[in-house]
Amino acid sequence: MTKVTMVVNGKSVSAETEGRTLLSGYLREGLGLTGTHVGCDTSQCGACVVHVNGKAVKSCTIFAQDVAGAEVRTIEGMANADGSLGVVQQAFQDHHGLQCGFCTPGMVMSSAALLAENPKPTEAEVRHYLEGNICRCTGYHNIVKAVLAASGQDIAAIPAE
Ligand code: FES
Ligand code: FES
Repeated sequence: MTKVTMVVNGKSVSAETEGRTLLSGYLREGLGLTGTHVGCDTSQCGACVVHVNGKAVKSCTIFAQDVAGAEVRTIEGMANADGSLGVVQQAFQDHHGLQCGFCTPGMVMSSAALLAENPKPTEAEVRHYLEGNICRCTGYHNIVKAVLAASGQDIAAIPAE
């Protein structure tokens, strides 16, 4: 076992890990941050997306030891300082971008990474960016609306599904 330290949601944290421990397992079992979901463990579903040094990463695809020292952000770090929902989270709630919620942490993290790179994406760009995030419930339409709304764009022109 090796002690791995990184900065998660602004705090320096450490947990004992095996060499095979994935970042998703480090976060969930090592730190108790179970907002990061594991839907497949085979890099298909995107439920496990977090930010590593500002980039969206499927946390089931990397070993925790390989990101020692990194700045990691999880869904638990997306709320505002006063505890209210962050802008992307609020947009998902306002535009019904979730049903069961299993995919939602990964969707929110991927969407936030997109908006950091591209603050005013088109509908097509949102759909393209979220291709690695699978949702079994919503049909995606309201997720796309939520991301466009979070970017401050008028979503009235998007036809109802
Ligand atoms: S759990 Fe990581 S992509 Fe599905
Ligand atoms: S809301 Fe159920 S999987 Fe997306």
